[in-house]
Amino acid sequence: MSFRQSFRATPIALTLVAVITAAFAVSAFAGPTTGKAEAGAAIYKTKCVACHKADGTGGFKVAGLPTANWTLKKTWDATRTDDYLRDCITNGKIKDGMVAWGKTKQLTPAQIEDLVAYIKTYKAKAK
Ligand code: HEC
Repeated sequence: MSFRQSFRATPIALTLVAVITAAFAVSAFAGPTTGKAEAGAAIYKTKCVACHKADGTGGFKVAGLPTANWTLKKTWDATRTDDYLRDCITNGKIKDGMVAWGKTKQLTPAQIEDLVAYIKTYKAKAK
């Protein structure tokens, strides 16, 4: 291997390590969340209230669909699993205006778990 080739191999190797690490991180966070609601509440206050409201009632329209009202029982149908919430926070709903917080690295997978746990406190109180 020439010097030039090995020079190029380094970023490729680093990318592979990053991809494998990411795959592990994703597989570690599937199914019911183990996040901490109090930690999620603190993040929610700074990054999410603008569109989801402090009381979780949402109704804020950015581009397409408005934010959901988490205080209503009917919002919490069978599709609103922990995996669904986690996926929305990680990958966003770009066309509706929801940020891909995980994919853009603005939040870590652990922070996203805490947010899922926090959002579920609205589910617990939903009427
Ligand atoms: C710029 C406005 C905006 C901000 C800030 C924002 N969201 Fe959203 N979010 C949206 C919109 C709009 C939707 C609705 C998208 C849809 O249903 O297709 C949404 C959807 C969601 C959903 C899916 C909810 C459901 O019941 O369908 C979750 C979970 C969520 N957001 C969590 C968060 C969290 C956590 C934060 C803070 C880290 C956040 N959002 C910040 C606009 C925002």
